[in-house]
Amino acid sequence: MATIELKQVEKKFGDSYAVKPLDMTINSGEFIVLLGPSGCGKTTTLRMISGLEAVTSGNILFDGKDVTWLHPSARDIAFVFQFFALYSHLSARDNIAFPLQAQGMSRDEIKKRVAEVANMLKIEHVLNARPGSLSGGDQQRVALARALVRRPAAFLMDEPLGALDAEFRESMRAEIKRLHIDQNATSVYVTHDQVEAMAMGDRIVVMSNAEVQQAATPMEVYNSPANLFVARFIGSPGMNLIGGKYADGIVHLPGDNQYFVPENWRGVLASSLPGDGRVVVGFRPEAVDVHEDGQIHSSTFANDLHGGYTMLHLQLDGDHIVHVRAGREMRYQLDDTVHFDIKPDMVRFFHPETEKALQNGKV
Ligand SMILES: Nc1ncnc2c1ncn2[C@@H]1O[C@H](COP(=O)(O)OP(=O)(O)OP(=O)(O)O)[C@@H](O)[C@H]1O
Ligand SMILES: [Mg+2]
Repeated sequence: MATIELKQVEKKFGDSYAVKPLDMTINSGEFIVLLGPSGCGKTTTLRMISGLEAVTSGNILFDGKDVTWLHPSARDIAFVFQFFALYSHLSARDNIAFPLQAQGMSRDEIKKRVAEVANMLKIEHVLNARPGSLSGGDQQRVALARALVRRPAAFLMDEPLGALDAEFRESMRAEIKRLHIDQNATSVYVTHDQVEAMAMGDRIVVMSNAEVQQAATPMEVYNSPANLFVARFIGSPGMNLIGGKYADGIVHLPGDNQYFVPENWRGVLASSLPGDGRVVVGFRPEAVDVHEDGQIHSSTFANDLHGGYTMLHLQLDGDHIVHVRAGREMRYQLDDTVHFDIKPDMVRFFHPETEKALQNGKV
C-alpha cells in the first residue's frame, strides 16, 4: 500500500498538453478511477505514475518519497493493460510466475504465491493451458494474477476490461473490486465508461481536455457535478440541462414555463448570474415528480419502456426535450400534455458562461 501524490504534474507532446498541471493525492488503499473521453489524458497520467512516461514537469511522490525520476521497476507498482500482453509460448502458470522468477525468488515461494493468487482468481483449472486457448475473461484473469502475484504497493490498470464482452465485463468488474478490497492495494483504474467508474471507484477523477474537471466520490460527482461537462458525461442519459432566464425567484424556461426556484437558491442566483439573468437549470431524470398539478408543462415526445421504469421524453418546446424517469405503468400517448415538478433538493444551477455549478452552501 502506498500513498501517491502528484504535484503540478504535466505532460506536453511538442506544444500541446496531454495533461495540464495536475495536483492529486491518492490515499493508501484507495481505488481511484480516472474517467473521461478518448484523448483526455488518462493513459498519459497513468503512465507518468508508473514511470513509463517521463513528466514534462512536476513531481510524483510515493509515501512521501520523490520517485519522479525513478525507473518503473523501482517503483513497486504493477500495470495491467487492456490487451493482455501474455507470453503466448508460456503456460498460464509460467506467465504468472514470470515476474517472481525475474526477481530471483525461490521455487517454493513462487509455487506458493502462484497457488494463492490462482485460488483468489479461480483460475486453478487453466494453469497448464497456454493463453491462446483461453477465453478473454480467463486471459485477463491470468494477466491480473501476474500483476497481483508480486503484491505491489500500487496497482495501475488501463481499461483492463475494454476488450471483454459485456457479460464478462460485469463479472470481472465485481471481481476486481473484490480483489481490491481483499488486497487493499492502492489502485488507479482508467476507463471511459462512466457506469464502470460509478460502480468501482472510491473516488472518480473526471478528466476532459487534459484537465481534471472534478475529483470526488461517485455520489458527489453524480449528485453535484462541478460543471456542465461532468453533468452531461455522468449518467445515462446525462443530466437534463435547460437554459432559462432568472428574475424575481422565477426561471423562465422554454415553452412558456415558469419554474419557481426553491427559497434557498434565490440569493445565490440573484448574486452570481450574468446581468441578464441567464442560467442553466439541471436535474437528473429521477429528480422529477410527474403529476397533474406539476408546475412545468410539456408534451410527450416518446416513451421508452425499461421494464422496471418508463423513461419519458418530454418536449418543453420544439428545441428542448427532457428525459424523465417515471413509474413502470406510466405511459402517455404521443403529444399528450404532461405536468411535472423538479424535486427541490435535487435541482442544480449552472452559470451559462463559466459552465460551473453554482453553490448554495449546502452542496
Ligand atoms: N506518444 C505520444 N506522442 C504524441 N502525442 C501523444 C502521445 N501519447 C499521447 N498523445 C496525445 O496526448 C493526448 C492524451 O492521450 P492519452 O492516451 O493519455 O488519452 P486517453 O485519455 O488515454 O484516451 P483513450 O481513451 O483514447 O485511451 C492525446 O491527444 C494523444 O493524442
Ligand atoms: Mg488511454
